[in-house]
Amino acid sequence: MAIENSRPVSVASILNNYKSKIVTADEAVKCIKSNDKILVHSNCAFPSQIVEAMVRRKDELEQVELYHALSVGELPYLRPGMEGHFIHNATFIGSNSREAVQDGRADFIPVFLSEVPLLFKSGKIKLDVALIHVSPPDEHGFCSYGVEVGLTKTGAETAGIIIAQVNKNMPRTLGDSFIHVSKINYMVESDEEIKELPQSNDVDPKMSNVYSRIGENIAGLIEDGSTLQLGIGAIPDAVLGYLYNKKALGIHTELFSDGVIGLVEAGIITNEMKTIHPGKIIAGFVLGTKKLYDFIHNNPLIEFHRQEYVNDPFIISKNYKMVAINSAIEVDLTGQVCSDSIGTKLFSGIGGQLDFIRGAARSEGGKPIIALPSTAKNNTISKIVPFLKQGAGVVTSRGDVHYVVTEFGVAQLFGKCVRERVKELVKIAHPDFKESLMKYAVDNKYV
Ligand code: COA
Repeated sequence: MAIENSRPVSVASILNNYKSKIVTADEAVKCIKSNDKILVHSNCAFPSQIVEAMVRRKDELEQVELYHALSVGELPYLRPGMEGHFIHNATFIGSNSREAVQDGRADFIPVFLSEVPLLFKSGKIKLDVALIHVSPPDEHGFCSYGVEVGLTKTGAETAGIIIAQVNKNMPRTLGDSFIHVSKINYMVESDEEIKELPQSNDVDPKMSNVYSRIGENIAGLIEDGSTLQLGIGAIPDAVLGYLYNKKALGIHTELFSDGVIGLVEAGIITNEMKTIHPGKIIAGFVLGTKKLYDFIHNNPLIEFHRQEYVNDPFIISKNYKMVAINSAIEVDLTGQVCSDSIGTKLFSGIGGQLDFIRGAARSEGGKPIIALPSTAKNNTISKIVPFLKQGAGVVTSRGDVHYVVTEFGVAQLFGKCVRERVKELVKIAHPDFKESLMKYAVDNKYV
């Protein structure tokens, strides 16, 4: 006998509740007041429709502060004429906010990615409004934060008012990734395409050989059964291309992009050896294309979690053979790693680099890796340097650094004295700079 699928009585009322909250973007943003502090959904979940409506009200608003990490696409509140009306606080500087930060038209908060949500939870930054971008509610009334869960969920929960752009194109991602419709104050229906981040096929062809040699060198450090953290960009993608002969890899990472799909489909990323969350990819968000968004939609292979959990070094360290792969602007001969500025020019942010470098260092069999091309600007600048540029920001200290990888090889620095570090780093420097690096080291009694 067929069993009737009896749906809970509350479903109808949930949907009615949802319908009563639907307003236009212009109506929704009327609740925003001067001096409000506002969380904006980060990364590819940037809720453009609501933000545009808020910006249309600029003449009624003064000193509204906007908080988010990286975001993809133009930032309307940084357009000319917005000064005084809106202040952007970046917890990670992207290409769309870099000029404004460097010109003093936007602010930058240096913070570990693991601690961004805690700024809001602790009340250090008391949020008035959160602007989020979610999937439509399911039959139980839950909307998914979709492509960006980690940096937004905790903050939104602390905000006085939540305005959601509800979009059928937002993938329904699983894990600790939902908000119930009853918690949302205003819902703005949307069918815009979710923003995409072009993949590293766009890498400068002159650099592609360098990146692939770096990828090959890193792949040599990755053992079967390892769990990986991979950032975005040319280096992580180059590494992924060299992993097709590995077995039983896992992923625990702040973010991932399209490159993992092929390795999952080839049966290389199985997550079966993971010591926490076995069988699952764990992440805070994704940055990629529609192909990736289709892959993560309703996919039980992947669990999204809050960044304070995913990036907690103690959680990361519970993974067996945790390999963290991060990049840098420059590394000095003692092993100090600058990653967030070019001299005094603020460039990006601390991000999750040190969270994962520390987590991997404490993992059984773990390997924290800093990978970078040996030079910048067409081989005119060495990225292995005698000393960091004036004003450079150290993200990974010389106490934290373990492996440094360039296209010329692998330097293993952990536990080594400065004399040994110099030799290791000169070994992987570009040939044009080896002599001057060694001369500096000799002159300064490092060797
Ligand atoms: N001196 C002068 N300029 C330099 C330089 C140096 N030592 N190193 C890089 N640059 C320039 C490059 O020439 C390039 O300039 P261009 O845009 O005019 O071509 C620019 O800086 C960016 O360099 P690139 O090597 O392309 O950077 P990237 O996109 O690979 O990013 C980091 C590298 C370090 C900025 C990035 O990984 C980062 O922000 N890391 C910190 C946070 C982190 O690691 N998070 C965890 C993983 S996402």
